[in-house]
Amino acid sequence: MEEITLKLGERSYTVYIDYSHLERLPELMRNVISFERVLVVTNTTVGELYAEQLLDVLNTGGYTPELLILPDGERYKDITSLRKIYDFLIENNFPRQSTIIALGGGVIGDIAGFAAATYMRGINFIQVPTTLLAMVDASVGGKVAINHPLGKNLIGAFYQPRLVFINLEFLKTLPEEELRCGYAEVIKYGIIRDADFFEYLEDRTHDVLALDKKALQKVVATSCRIKADIVQQDEREADIRAILNYGHTVGHAIESLTRYCVYKHGEAVAIGMVAAARIGARLEMIDNAEVERIWQIIRMAGLPYRFKHAEPEDIVERITKDKKVLGHKVRYVLPRRIGVVEIVSDVSPALVIEVLKEMKE
Ligand SMILES: NC(=O)c1ccc[n+]([C@@H]2O[C@H](COP(=O)([O-])OP(=O)(O)OC[C@H]3O[C@@H](n4cnc5c(N)ncnc54)[C@H](O)[C@@H]3O)[C@@H](O)[C@H]2O)c1
Repeated sequence: MEEITLKLGERSYTVYIDYSHLERLPELMRNVISFERVLVVTNTTVGELYAEQLLDVLNTGGYTPELLILPDGERYKDITSLRKIYDFLIENNFPRQSTIIALGGGVIGDIAGFAAATYMRGINFIQVPTTLLAMVDASVGGKVAINHPLGKNLIGAFYQPRLVFINLEFLKTLPEEELRCGYAEVIKYGIIRDADFFEYLEDRTHDVLALDKKALQKVVATSCRIKADIVQQDEREADIRAILNYGHTVGHAIESLTRYCVYKHGEAVAIGMVAAARIGARLEMIDNAEVERIWQIIRMAGLPYRFKHAEPEDIVERITKDKKVLGHKVRYVLPRRIGVVEIVSDVSPALVIEVLKEMKE
């Protein structure tokens, strides 16, 4: 088992990465949580696959788990699902010392985490992520949120879990396209922070996507380590944490313009990562050969590197509008070379439009 500790003072916690061995969870929980009442929050898909196994493990380990199953899908990451969690906790008299365990992908992690952050001003929270995206990104770092009809993740908090338990075996049942979407975030870590890791990914992409145990373990652990390191430096995104948004500025705009129906999040991020690299090349920040490597690895992973169903001008307009709503300047995370990025705030909209025009199918 691999262990990565996020050093955040009294909010410190450990991410455990293992292949199977879910039965170790209770003994790891004992180090941080003594009270026995636990609510496992999951969705219909993941619940059917893994809820019974997790409840058994918790029962055997001396905890008293109860189960709440939410509908599956991003559209249920809303106030109605949140209300269901509060109702369950209140109707069943869960006290302040209780724990919520999120068993699922980023959607369940985000809703359950927000419920844990706010129920009785905060109860214990544990992440048991089941998608690659949640393992390498959403479960680590303490961002929790629900969506509002006017925008994604607009209602949320920073609330760190007490521990994260990653069981790589869960990925065996994950649909391939979801695996690729999580892999987009893995590629991101190489680009923003670690050229050697990027090189490793260039060699081993097929192995990771075929769920080769060793490659998977290395990729998840390295990704979590990079995220942990960045979050430790800037827990609440005052500055450097923003580099984790590499590829997300253009990606989010394409996702929302296509009404979340055409591209999955990881696919939109993949397009956004290519766009950011090409914007960097136009500004003579990065060599074309490096941009080519970024583009090639995305292609190798079966992720999109061009787009359709959205107009370049509309994408740039959406980026500007979204940032205004949030009271932020438009800032792009652009690569200098693989492994090093910079935050740049004065990129001309016309240049971004030109780059996007070249990428439009
Ligand atoms: N909090 C953060 O820091 C952070 C970071 C990135 C993304 N997010 C959020 O994460 C969400 C996306 O997460 P996601 O990509 O994990 O999507 P998801 O949670 O919707 O999961 C994708 C699909 O896979 C299914 N699934 C999950 N695990 C499975 C398994 N082991 N076997 C079979 N099916 C399985 C789910 O039921 C779902 O249908 C978005 O809401 C995004 O905003 C949060």
